[in-house]
Amino acid sequence: MVSTTFVTTILGIVALSSAHRWKNDVPGTIELPLTLVEAAAGEGPLYLVNISIGTPPQEVTVQIDTGSSDLWVFASNVECDNAYGCLGSSFVSNASRTLVDDMPNKFVYSYGSGANGTGDFVTDDLHIGGKTIKNARFGISHDAYGISPTYGIMGLGFPGGEAAVQSGLSEYNTTVMAMKNQGVINSAAFSIYLNDVDSEGSILFGGYDTAKYSGDLKTLNVIEFDDAYGQWYINLTAIGTSTISSDGSSSTSWYGNSSVAGAAFIDSGSPKIFVPGNGAMNVILDLGGEYDYSLSSSLIPCSAKNKTDVTVDVLLGGSNGPLIQIPIHQLIEPYTGGNVTIDGEEACSFGVSPGPDGFQILGDAFLRGAYTVFNMDNHTVSVADIKLNVKESKIIAL
Ligand SMILES: *[C@@H]1O[C@H](CO)[C@@H](O)[C@H](O)[C@H]1NC(C)=O
Ligand SMILES: *[C@@H]1O[C@H](CO)[C@@H](O)[C@H](O)[C@H]1NC(C)=O
Ligand SMILES: *[C@@H]1O[C@H](CO)[C@@H](O)[C@H](O)[C@H]1NC(C)=O
Ligand SMILES: *[C@@H]1O[C@H](CO)[C@@H](O)[C@H](O)[C@H]1NC(C)=O
Ligand SMILES: *[C@@H]1O[C@H](CO)[C@@H](O)[C@H](O)[C@H]1NC(C)=O
Ligand SMILES: *[C@@H]1O[C@H](CO)[C@@H](O)[C@H](O)[C@H]1NC(C)=O
Ligand SMILES: *[C@@H]1O[C@H](CO)[C@@H](O)[C@H](O)[C@H]1NC(C)=O
Ligand SMILES: *[C@@H]1O[C@H](CO)[C@@H](O)[C@H](O)[C@H]1NC(C)=O
Ligand SMILES: *[C@@H]1O[C@H](CO)[C@@H](O)[C@H](O)[C@H]1NC(C)=O
Repeated sequence: MVSTTFVTTILGIVALSSAHRWKNDVPGTIELPLTLVEAAAGEGPLYLVNISIGTPPQEVTVQIDTGSSDLWVFASNVECDNAYGCLGSSFVSNASRTLVDDMPNKFVYSYGSGANGTGDFVTDDLHIGGKTIKNARFGISHDAYGISPTYGIMGLGFPGGEAAVQSGLSEYNTTVMAMKNQGVINSAAFSIYLNDVDSEGSILFGGYDTAKYSGDLKTLNVIEFDDAYGQWYINLTAIGTSTISSDGSSSTSWYGNSSVAGAAFIDSGSPKIFVPGNGAMNVILDLGGEYDYSLSSSLIPCSAKNKTDVTVDVLLGGSNGPLIQIPIHQLIEPYTGGNVTIDGEEACSFGVSPGPDGFQILGDAFLRGAYTVFNMDNHTVSVADIKLNVKESKIIAL
């Protein structure tokens, strides 16, 4: 989750969940369905999961966030000064008999937008996909200010990115690490399948699902900063667009290589792909879109969603590294900030946006083009082109 002054977040609810049953029959893995919630003001999807906390268990809905490292929820008596509310069920801490409030007032968080909050770091039992993780550490927000986040967060980054570390406290084992330590999964790894913009996706802890991608998974090393892993930074090499002709051949244009190349982090808590100015602008213009400065938004005619022969290409890890080709329809969503048009045509929100130099984020728009395996034990990310709307599973535990 990076909120910057120009990344407007969030919210109101147009939930797109369906109520089918999910089986977890591969030992050492847990699969949870994702509920997609569209923004009401501003732009961008939020991907949510349900977990339960405490004894007896209380269900909460939290946003999955590969761009931060703490699990936290709103307290039932939260002082909520968030513009779009504090949603997703709150947690009544004194109703849980297994809760240990050993770090009161030590949970302090803030985001680039100025949004921030404070609360307690506690331990309690988590119940995730029918499995229990005992005495796991997480935060309970008592005060929340600013525009976001609107839901509590399941941070999926490394310990170096924890709010505790930023406050000068010791790191602790993240939720995914605690799942591994207690044998619920075998590796501190998880895979994200956001699926089609109109369908339900999933997060799979402890494994990956070979039915959900095409070609081979290709593996990249995560970049360390100051000898520590914090977020899921990988090397971004280039961004471009491809048009596939009727004979199956494709031609690719690359844009702004020298400004685009650099460390980018994969952030399920950010809606878009943000790359420095001219790289992003050329992609947008090439596809018939525009950047609206007054709305701080990239827009494209909604009709571009019907193009089947165009992809946005993201090259990672050097010129021979993995190439993810994101079908253009995966990058186009209704614009929820009001009615806007481009040349008289209805405009939609477009998933590539210019950011300042050095601000490179591979947000949900990227994750809708890639099946992505995050391995904390090996400090690697593996990617392949996503296969959409796949109902079957071939899960392999890691
Ligand atoms: C999560 O819980 C909310 C609130 O009870 C519910 O509306 C939603 O459908 C649930 N999502 C999933 C994926 O079960
Ligand atoms: C929890 O604490 C609140 C006040 O902080 C109190 O009103 C409530 O009765 C308590 N609930 C339980 C289950 O003890
Ligand atoms: C927290 O956010 C509020 C609202 O954006 C802001 O007024 C306040 O200064 C922030 N506090 C801190 C400590 O950043
Ligand atoms: C984290 O887990 C490791 C086991 O993998 C354990 O040795 C260590 O004590 C744990 N750290 C904390 C702070 O609980
Ligand atoms: C990222 O790219 C830089 C510059 O090319 C290179 O020095 C570094 O080794 C790469 N890091 C990883 C983890 O691939
Ligand atoms: C896509 O094509 C269909 C059928 O031609 C049309 O009905 C629909 O309006 C088009 N969608 C957009 C967003 O233009
Ligand atoms: C930009 O990067 C792509 C992909 O690595 C490469 O094929 C292309 O030649 C580069 N373009 C320029 C002008 O360097
Ligand atoms: C947007 O357009 C729709 C249909 O064209 C209309 O019903 C709605 O009132 C418009 N909203 C705004 C904010 O102009
Ligand atoms: C992780 O690294 C270990 C040790 O190098 C290796 O045996 C294992 O196969 C790796 N796991 C994956 C999923 O790449």
